[in-house]
Formats: sequence, C-alpha cells, structure tokens
Amino acid sequence: MKNKITLSTLERMKESGEKIAVLTAYDAGFARLAESAGVDVILVGDSLGMVVQGHDSTLPVTVEEMVYHTAMVNRGCSKPLLVADMPFMSHGTPRQALDNAGRLMKEGGAHMVKLEGGHAQVETVRHLTARAVPVCAHLGLLPQSIHQLGGYKVQGRDSHSAERILNDAHELQQAGAQMLVLECVPELLAREVSLALDIPVIGIGAGRGCDGQVLVLHDMLGITPGKAPSFSRNFIEKENSIEDAIRAYVEAVHNGEFPAEEHCFK
Ligand code: KIV
Repeated sequence: MKNKITLSTLERMKESGEKIAVLTAYDAGFARLAESAGVDVILVGDSLGMVVQGHDSTLPVTVEEMVYHTAMVNRGCSKPLLVADMPFMSHGTPRQALDNAGRLMKEGGAHMVKLEGGHAQVETVRHLTARAVPVCAHLGLLPQSIHQLGGYKVQGRDSHSAERILNDAHELQQAGAQMLVLECVPELLAREVSLALDIPVIGIGAGRGCDGQVLVLHDMLGITPGKAPSFSRNFIEKENSIEDAIRAYVEAVHNGEFPAEEHCFK
C-alpha cells in the first residue's frame, strides 16, 4: 500500500491543481473497494440515513450510528483520509461537538469530522480545531436544514446568498477548517470560493471549478431509489464490477472529465 493520504497530501494536491476524488462509504467491504480503486478521501456521510437506513432525510441519524459505520469503514481501508459526518443535533454547542467528534475519532477512527453550517458554526469549528480535531466545513445545500430550506434546492443563486456563502467560507477557514464541502451551488460561485480559499474545496453539484468532487456511493452506482440527482453520473453502466465503476469515477475526477457541463448548475 502506497503512502497514506493526509491533509498535507490534499493541500499539495490543491496547490498543484491535482483534483481530489472523494466518495462516501458506510461499511468495510465498500471501503476496501474504494481504497483499491484509488479514492483519495472516504466520507462516512450521514447520507447513510437515506441510502442505507431508508429514511427520507438525514435527520434521524445518531452519533452512535455514525460511530458504528465509521469504525466499519476504518477496518476496511488504511490509505484514504477518513472523514466522518457529525449528524443532526450532535454539534449544537462547542462542548457537545467536542464530545461527539471525540467519539468519532477515538471509537470510529475518523481522521476528520465534517459539520454542516456557516457563521453559526464558527465558534464550534474554532473550539474543535484548537483541540486537535480536524474539521471539514459544509456550505450550500445543507441536508440537515432541509425543513428550513423547504427542499433540496440549489443555494447561492441570488447575490445576497452567494455573498453569504463566500463570507462564511472565509470565516470557517479562518476558524481553522481544513477542508470545505460545497453542495449544490452555481458553478461560478463554487469556482470563486475555491480560488479564494487556501483549503481544498470539494464540490457536489458545484461544478468544475472545485479542487475535488464527492459523490454518494449509491448515486454513482445507480442504486439510489427514485430519480438520480442531476449532478451525479451512473458510473457502473459501462463497467463490469463495482470496483471498476469506482475506478472510472476516480479517473474521471482526476482527469477533469467529471463533472461535465450537464452536471453543473448555473
Ligand atoms: O452525507 C453525505 O454523504 C454528504 C455528501 C453529500 C457530501 O454530506
């Protein structure tokens, strides 16, 4: 097994313009496949609430469940950077966030935690990062705020909300966040944020200007029930195995073929 991927590796990739391939996984078997297909970062997303547990949102997912899935993924791989989501209501205060992030790292083996939210999360991000908990921030469409947002809609389309996303991104980086996920925002805004920040910006439905891409495993394998998100691509259609499909995704991200224009929002 070649060198482990660390945050320094990702920083170097951003500096040199190499794209970062991120994929979700929720158990050891898929983590093993993702690793051998060359995925740089594995995200144990709270999307597991929808694609694994069958809920209609990510809100019911608990810290206990995130720890359980993160530990399974950790047992299946050793090279990719392992990021675990902090689920809904697990980071309401800096103290609560620290307790729960500690569990994801100590019991789950996560190298970094991801939490959704902008300005309101700045104090929490500062609290965690000052205590050796690496944080990935998450802006744009925030699935944990789905009831406030009124649906899974593209964010940052008007100048006011675009400016808020850009300002929040700066504040979160300043507070110590070392990576940012940008979900479902116009391509131009995502490009602006990626160029403005020093930390890697990973897009999902955020176009071609980001430093890397993340997809939900079940979406790219075409097994998410219902209509696939328009920003995703079914990578297994032309492949003979799950591992080949993941490898095709990694290659398409690394060489800039994915996302294509049809996966981007204006
Ligand atoms: O939970 C998840 O899988 C995520 C990705 C959509 C970025 O947060």
